[in-house]
Amino acid sequence: MERKRWYKDMVFYQIWPRSFKDGDGDGMGDLWGVLEKLDYIKSLGCDGIWFSPIYPSPGADCGYDIADYMDIAPEFGGMEAFKKVLEGCHERGMKLLMDLVVNHTSDEHEWFEKSRRRIDPYTDYYIWRPGEKGGKLPNNWDSNFEGKAWTYDEVRGEYYLHLFAIKQPDLNMDNPLVREEVKKILHFWLDMGVDGFREDVITYISKTEGLPNDRIFPIYKGMRKYNHGPHIHEYLSEFKRDVFDKYDCFTLAEAPLVWPKRALKYIDEEKGQIDMMIQFQCETADCLFTDWLPTKFKLRKMKKAFSDWQYKLSGKAWNMLYIENHDHPRIISRYGSEKYRTESGKTLAVTYLFQQGTPFLYQGQEIGMLNWRPESPEMYEDVQTVYNYNHTNLKKSPEERLKRLWRCSRDSARTPVQWSAEKNAGFTTGTPWLPVNENYKEINVEKEEKDPDSLLNFYRKAIALRKSLPAVRYGEYREHFHRSKKLYVYTRETESQKLLVICSFTEKPAKIKIPSGYNIEKGELILANYKERDEKILKPYETRVYLFNS
Ligand code: GLC
Repeated sequence: MERKRWYKDMVFYQIWPRSFKDGDGDGMGDLWGVLEKLDYIKSLGCDGIWFSPIYPSPGADCGYDIADYMDIAPEFGGMEAFKKVLEGCHERGMKLLMDLVVNHTSDEHEWFEKSRRRIDPYTDYYIWRPGEKGGKLPNNWDSNFEGKAWTYDEVRGEYYLHLFAIKQPDLNMDNPLVREEVKKILHFWLDMGVDGFREDVITYISKTEGLPNDRIFPIYKGMRKYNHGPHIHEYLSEFKRDVFDKYDCFTLAEAPLVWPKRALKYIDEEKGQIDMMIQFQCETADCLFTDWLPTKFKLRKMKKAFSDWQYKLSGKAWNMLYIENHDHPRIISRYGSEKYRTESGKTLAVTYLFQQGTPFLYQGQEIGMLNWRPESPEMYEDVQTVYNYNHTNLKKSPEERLKRLWRCSRDSARTPVQWSAEKNAGFTTGTPWLPVNENYKEINVEKEEKDPDSLLNFYRKAIALRKSLPAVRYGEYREHFHRSKKLYVYTRETESQKLLVICSFTEKPAKIKIPSGYNIEKGELILANYKERDEKILKPYETRVYLFNS
């Protein structure tokens, strides 16, 4: 089937279901809540939704530990609610993406239950090893979440590999039967009418033969032996050939530690096996590889990340654009300024919305939600956070250890969406599964709906503009003044249309810089975050977008 690549004209909204909207009052977000809010999502100018996992799951990693791939969790409303949401999306001309998590399952999946008992054909569905003499683990790999990557299973009498939590055993993708299972899952959802998949850590699915030790690495020992492994392109091609090519769907691959050159092997429009890739560089301007190794925010690092992908994919592949998702603390708290919340939120929106690619918004980003800062470490739920808290930085003071969680934890961005100033921010009539951020009376959708200058309404304007301007879709990207530590300035040019984008990233006034060949007096100012403007000086976190038509 001919791929229509409809995703190039779209803007997606990511729903992290537990915290989006509770429809039945049990304190947990669900699909009934989503149904209520479809018009809201559409009103932002978003044409599609990516659902973080909504399958039955014990919830060890908030749904990324799946116990049944062909059903919807009862706490989210089951299949009945899902079908209504799918229909509701399609009626509104919106697409729906599911999360495909097949690097690992839950240890409560039936396959694992059978595999640990050596019941065929499931015996080799997972990666089992006897372990070495003297209680040595099969190799030196670390898990991404909970210590070593191996756990001994009493039932089978062997170790199993888990690159994430202990309750997330890795599937053995080298087993053709496992790949057949994946295809069955894909067919099941695509036949139901789902429009595509976001593929969770998909670059991890092929492990180096023999599972050799890895050298020391700043993070996650082992990663070099399983990220972009030997058969990765073969397996992805197989999924494409046997499934995706038969549908008008689209695929988005999550890929930790990937640079454009490597990415092109996956997403080149002629030869690739998937459509777009979630890279992590744009999330590391204030840390080293992971949020857990924080550094000072460096604008130049952020600009370089965005520009690298813009330049190197140009004409060959399509960018996935994002500044927030469920795996990172809130962006205003990191790259912007809480003091200038609305202003810096707008600058951050402009930073990525006028680039080439398909933008994604993460729930709450559009109203400028900030990091959660609970008073006690016991309030955290995330498996990675709990492990890191209990095993690292033990010698630091309790205050420092708690502050580290505020800064680094994924839960900082997982609190319920703040819909109104009512109890529990209008998220639930019950007790929320994770507390609501205390600032909800100040920051909520209802309040921002009423304010024409709110961040929410700015997002609407910016998205509508991006859709109306050919230069955003087709224009050549160029970054200017890349050495500047205060400003991000870029242009987008087609033969008939030019855009000049200026974003200040400082709380201090900053001298405006205009690229040569551009005369702002001749341009039309189409978007800005201040009403009053100075010709030469930008206000804190000021942003402007100028349009030049010829
Ligand atoms: C991805 C998901 C993350 C999850 C992990 C394991 O990185 O985005 O939330 O914990 O994979 O599935």
